[in-house]
Amino acid sequence: MSTYSKTVIKHFEHPQNAGEMDTPDGEGTVRNPVCGDQMQVMLRISEGRIKRMQWLTRGCPPAIATSSWTSEQVEGWTLEEAEALTREAIAEGIGGLPKDKVHCSVLAADALKIAITDYRNRKQ
Ligand code: FES
Repeated sequence: MSTYSKTVIKHFEHPQNAGEMDTPDGEGTVRNPVCGDQMQVMLRISEGRIKRMQWLTRGCPPAIATSSWTSEQVEGWTLEEAEALTREAIAEGIGGLPKDKVHCSVLAADALKIAITDYRNRKQ
């Protein structure tokens, strides 16, 4: 664990917003085909903004940490702001990742985008 930043360790040991959400407004699931880790994002959306993001992640410490960090960040963001959140910004936000773990930030970025698309599709 010493190769991880303090932020990664903090979010891994005390994950925020983890768990199921009743009747989410949008949801998305991503699975990394290489390692098999998986993340599900559930969103509560109101007036074009994310009121709450909850998540279920089965994966490595950075996957858990990026899920937790992202769920805190996007609260109150517009959908457009959340869609613009890149995997690089997530990795930077949690204080960087070891080279062989950089791909772990992909789950949160991609699952969030899929959940927003799911919300938009449901509204049509
Ligand atoms: Fe698979 Fe981290 S090792 S997401």
